[in-house]
Amino acid sequence: MKRTVKDLVNLKGKVVLLRVDFNVPIDKNGKILDLNRVNASLPTIKYLIEQEAKIVLMSHMGRPEGYEIRLSLWPISLILMQKLNTKVYFSNKATGFEVKERLHSMNNGEVLLLENVRFYEGETKCDMKFARELASIGDVFINDAFGCSHRKHATTYGIARLMPNAIGLLMEKEVNVLTQAMEEPKRPFVAVIGGAKVPYKIKILRRFIDQADTILIGGAMAYTFLVASGIAVGESITYLDSVDVARDVLNYAKEKGKKVLLPIDHIAVRKGDKKQKKFATDSLIEDMVGMDIGPKTVKLFSEEIMQAGQIVWNGPLGKYEDEDYREGTNKIAKAISLSKAYSVVGGGDSVSAVKASKNAGGVNFLSTGGGATLKFIEDGSLPCLEVIQEQIR
Ligand code: ADP
Ligand code: 3PG
Ligand code: MG
Repeated sequence: MKRTVKDLVNLKGKVVLLRVDFNVPIDKNGKILDLNRVNASLPTIKYLIEQEAKIVLMSHMGRPEGYEIRLSLWPISLILMQKLNTKVYFSNKATGFEVKERLHSMNNGEVLLLENVRFYEGETKCDMKFARELASIGDVFINDAFGCSHRKHATTYGIARLMPNAIGLLMEKEVNVLTQAMEEPKRPFVAVIGGAKVPYKIKILRRFIDQADTILIGGAMAYTFLVASGIAVGESITYLDSVDVARDVLNYAKEKGKKVLLPIDHIAVRKGDKKQKKFATDSLIEDMVGMDIGPKTVKLFSEEIMQAGQIVWNGPLGKYEDEDYREGTNKIAKAISLSKAYSVVGGGDSVSAVKASKNAGGVNFLSTGGGATLKFIEDGSLPCLEVIQEQIR
């Protein structure tokens, strides 16, 4: 077990460097679209306020190359002011004299948010000089940034090697939920996997085959698996380089006696059809392109979901960004929300899809991670978690 913020004593007056993941979705003008990650970070911040620490928040936003006003964290400081019952300061520099001065004048239990750490090139390079500069202002480092703890960066990894450290309450929750779901699942354990990125998700599929009882494959993933089973997919997205691996995965599931279900019908369009008129079909032939799972597949998958003790879902089941092709994803989200199973959804697109379908309330746990959640499911840990000290018993 990793040391958590609650294991630290005498935080009063201490400067706590708290890495959070405030990388929230924004539109092209920088308008914040969803505050899930900010809200998920509040329990640790509030706990540190109660402990009367001086709290320095560090986060990235987007993938800037140098300063980009659109990716400034300043708007988040305004939101924090409304959500926290204390003073929240913002520093448009992450290091240097101004930060030290502000800290000096701050009272215990107050918060200082630093500007986007990715405005500094040392961040993604995990430059230890940059990490050392940041570390020099604090007494202890806390990592609550589950969503980016698969990245070995200066404020997620480098800094942890320089200071006493612990994980935050969100990180603890994410780790506990995902570990429990993968190591001690409630059965039957139904895994639902969709989305694109077949080559990238092969490892996670093997993990699901090891741990789950039933695996439902949909989305663009499914066509490669259909081809591997000798079923035509017309002009649907297929990762030809991954067909052999997909066949191995299916054989592996067979050896292990695990049930893998592939779509039995589809919502498709014809390639080259300018109007993109969609239709339901049992087989994808000629120039047909599969865009979503069809109604028979929705029924087949929903029956499995209704009998599940636990569900873990990653990857939309169709091209859900387009409203014509989101019915499969929405109906599976609905089935999950209605089922009695303990349900976990992870993956950037998957969580947005569940929220957009208005079924988030029926899901037991929405992970704040995208890539981090997938990596955690694959490996059972993350590099930036590994670097944190163990709990002393
Ligand atoms: P996550 O972010 O949840 O891990 P992915 O990034 O793997 O999920 O996959 C999401 C993407 O997969 C979405 O952009 C979605 O449009 C796409 N997708 C799913 N099914 C299809 C399909 N049938 N055709 C085209 N794109 C699809
Ligand atoms: C995410 O949104 O998945 C995390 O904040 C990590 O962001 P990144 O993929 O830009 O490193
Ligand atoms: Mg994605």
